Amino acid sequence: MQRSLRLFSKAERIMDLKSKKVTGKTKFSGSSAKLSRIFITGGAGYIGSHVVKTLGEAGHELLVYDNLSTGHEWAVLYGRLVKGDLADTTLLNNVLSAFRPDAVIHFAASIQVEESIREPLNYYANNVVNTVNLLEAMIRHGIRNLIYSSTAAVYGIPGTIPVSETAPLCPINPYGASKVMVEGILRDLAKARPFNYIALRYFNVAGADPKSRIGQAYAEATHLITRALKTARGEYEKLSIYGTDYSTPDGTCIRDYIHVDDLADAHVLALEYLMDGNDSDVMNCGYGHGFSVREVVAAAKRVTGINFPVLETDRRAGDTPALTADSARLRQKTGWSPHHDDLDFIIRTAWEWEKKLSPIAININKER
Ligand code: UFG
Repeated sequence: MQRSLRLFSKAERIMDLKSKKVTGKTKFSGSSAKLSRIFITGGAGYIGSHVVKTLGEAGHELLVYDNLSTGHEWAVLYGRLVKGDLADTTLLNNVLSAFRPDAVIHFAASIQVEESIREPLNYYANNVVNTVNLLEAMIRHGIRNLIYSSTAAVYGIPGTIPVSETAPLCPINPYGASKVMVEGILRDLAKARPFNYIALRYFNVAGADPKSRIGQAYAEATHLITRALKTARGEYEKLSIYGTDYSTPDGTCIRDYIHVDDLADAHVLALEYLMDGNDSDVMNCGYGHGFSVREVVAAAKRVTGINFPVLETDRRAGDTPALTADSARLRQKTGWSPHHDDLDFIIRTAWEWEKKLSPIAININKER
C-alpha cells in the first residue's frame, strides 16, 4: 500500500477521506468475513455511495473512482476517492495497478432515459465504450470479479409481470440498449477469460440513508418520488402525473420501488456469492410488487402531511405501463431479503434527506 499511496499523491488526484474500519460482526455472512479490496466506479453517485456505505461499514477497503459529473465528494463516507474518468485509461490503469483490487463494482454510467433518446452517442460512449475500457484494464491487471449495474430498462415493455431474468430483452431507448450491449459483452468475456460477473438489474431505486447522511442529489430531479417531495418543499409549483390512460387499475404507470439500502445489500451479497466461486449470472433487484403513480403521490402527501398541487398531463415518451421484478433468483442464490419493503418508509427517508438537502444543493450547483 505504501507504493500505491506514493503514486496517488504524486498524481495529486486522490483525496484521503475517512478510512474507518469496522472489524466487528456484520449482517453479512460467507466471504464478508474475509475483507476485500474493492474498486468502485461511480461510487460518489446516489446508488454507489449507499453501496460504499454498506461495504465500508463491513470493513472492506474501498477505492472510489468517479469523475464527479453527477456524484459528490461528500457522498463518499468510506474509503478513498480518485477523481477520474473511465475514458482516461492511463489514470485508470495506474490506479488499478497500485490498488490491486479483488473485485470491481461498476456504477459509473449515464442514466436518463429521455436524454439518451436525444444524445444516443453520449450514452453509447459513456456506458459501452467506457465499460470496455474498464474491462480491458481489469483483464490486464488480472481482476476477475465484477458486479455490474444493469437496469429493468433492458426489458422494455415486458409481456408479463413480475418479469423474470429469462424474459426477452427488448429495450425501447438507447439507455436500456446500452445496458443490454454491456450485458452481452460481459457474457462473451466470461466465456473467453478467467472473469466472472453478476449483472444486477435495478428496478425503481428510491429512498435515502435512514440517518440522512446521503441521498439522491442530482442537479435536475426526474424520478417520481424525488419530484413529488421537491414539490412538497415548494421547489416546483406542481407535480405532473404523466398519463392517466394506461391499461392499469387506476390508469397510471406501476413501478417496483426498492429502497436504496436494500439494493446496497444486494450488491454485497452478490459480491460474496461471486467471490465464493459461483458462476456469472444476471439478477433482478426489486420487491416483486408495485405501486401506481397515483398511489405514490398519495403516499407522498401522507408522509409529508402536505397536500401539494398535482396536474394530470399527457404520457411521457418511453414509459412502460407496468414493471415489477421477479427477484426469486436473487433471493434464492444470494439469500437476499429486503428490510425496507414499505413505501411510506422509503418516502420518509427520502423526505428527511430532501429537508436536509437544501443547503447542500447550493454546493451541488457550485461543483458543476
Ligand atoms: N412520473 C410522473 N411524474 C414525474 C416523474 C415521473 O408521473 O414527475 C411517472 C413516470 O411517467 C413513470 C413513473 O412515474 O410512470 C416512474 O418514473 P421515474 O422517472 O421515477 O422512473 P422510471 O420508471 O422512468 O425509470 C427508472 C430509472 C430508469 C430505469 C427504470 C427501470 O430512472 O433508469 O426505472 O424501471 F430504467
